Amino acid sequence: MIAVIDFGSQYTQLIARRVRECRVYSEIYSHLIDIDELENKDIEGLIFSGGPGSVYQKRYYLSRDFFELGVPILGICYGMQLTAQMLGGVVKHSKTREYGHAVITAKSVPLFARLPNRFNVWMSHGDSVESLPSDAQVIAQTKATPIAGFRLGNIYGLQFHPEVHHTQYGKKIINNFVTSVCKAKKAWSMDKFIDEQVDNIKRAVGRDKVLCAVSGGIDSTVAAALTTRAVGKNFIGIFVDNGLLRHREKEEVMQTIGSRINLKVVNAKKSFLRKLADVKNPERKRKIIGREFIRIFESEARKIKNIKFLVQGTLYPDVIESGKGIGPSAVIKSHHNVGGLPRKMRLKVIEPLRPLFKDEVRKLGRLLKLPASFIGRKPFPGPGLAVRIVGPVTEKRLNILRQADKILIAEASKLKMYGDIWQIFAVLLPLGSVGVMGDKRTYDSVCAIRAVCSEDGMTADWVRLPQEFLGRVARRIANEVKGINRVVFDITSKPPATIEWE
Ligand code: XMP
Repeated sequence: MIAVIDFGSQYTQLIARRVRECRVYSEIYSHLIDIDELENKDIEGLIFSGGPGSVYQKRYYLSRDFFELGVPILGICYGMQLTAQMLGGVVKHSKTREYGHAVITAKSVPLFARLPNRFNVWMSHGDSVESLPSDAQVIAQTKATPIAGFRLGNIYGLQFHPEVHHTQYGKKIINNFVTSVCKAKKAWSMDKFIDEQVDNIKRAVGRDKVLCAVSGGIDSTVAAALTTRAVGKNFIGIFVDNGLLRHREKEEVMQTIGSRINLKVVNAKKSFLRKLADVKNPERKRKIIGREFIRIFESEARKIKNIKFLVQGTLYPDVIESGKGIGPSAVIKSHHNVGGLPRKMRLKVIEPLRPLFKDEVRKLGRLLKLPASFIGRKPFPGPGLAVRIVGPVTEKRLNILRQADKILIAEASKLKMYGDIWQIFAVLLPLGSVGVMGDKRTYDSVCAIRAVCSEDGMTADWVRLPQEFLGRVARRIANEVKGINRVVFDITSKPPATIEWE
């Protein structure tokens, strides 16, 4: 296993994924990790990430203990500067930042094996290494940065970012580090992961029953399919229809997964809508939906005997964000999840996807033979259409939004760029606007179209949708959906807006 030590870089997760793409397992640890913890983990190499810090800031200092592990080290950007300084080199704050593309001249060393001696790399730094530790060798330079890489035995530093797409041969460099320098075996594969997890779940669960809240989203469904492979009918999935789903969503979920896993559908539309009546405040909506979900889930669970386990589709980024990363983050919205359930219900939690990234979950889904249409599904929030109806949620407004969203998605899925869009959806606004239809005055609602591209939902930009497409969708929605007479397009990124409107 290769441990990626996080110094707060936005690319830390990318580094871990690149290592896994070389079929070597990798995990991310905070730079504050106790070294004893790493010693028990059979580490074959360390990668120090970049970071927003400057080596002059004490709190990001690197522990000497990492060097005592005796495994190869690759320091990237800030990680390189820290390493150089720790080993006796000097880092200087330069007035000019080097940002974007640069051409490096590379020496022939194992890290650059089978690469040309000049190629394009991605730089993003203010500080630079000015002099190296004694015995270290310069292995890369650019016009602006005379020391863009160094080597001291099996310790390497790179000022540029091999993990990002814009660095030519970046994947090869990481592969060289992992296989030629660390000599790690290429033993990590998704097939092997499935076998291991199935064994683990079987051993943990025995003949007991396992419960899971299945939302129809990719994470909970893949977790459910994997657990079903291990325990068969002793897996029980509960799908709660909260009345806030999209057009034909329940039917599609049933068609796709109802035949593959033991799934119980609970119709709870009425109770959700009753509790949401007249509620305008978005946070209150989210809290009500979250609480109601737990109440219904618990009452269904009580009807089944011998349940000891609860499966959750927690992914690796959730694990990192909830504590292992650097710095606390503020609660922007109360996300709907089932976090409170296991404690209340005294269940043991199984999280079979815990080590995986989102794209790895998709791969796992494909190996478990879930249909391609399902694997390509866009994220949909737990509180559903309730957070896409600004103002009170009623059956009537839900139906209006469903129809508008259906038209939008039907048109959008014909676009070539559809696969690259993170989310595209309609929002119903609490605004009346004047219109004219067949010589008559109308006074109906405004509908907004939101389309964003994103890597992980944390930040997003609005998608530059083709104008003809926007025109066609606006025309169809205003003509075909009774209750909407105006369509607007949301051109805000996140931040400052969020992806959902509420
Ligand atoms: P925001 O609106 O916070 O959304 O920018 C970021 C991503 O999260 C999704 N989202 C949710 N997902 N439960 C979820 O499972 C929720 O309560 C929830 N709220 C927002 C949103 O669709 C986007 O992909």
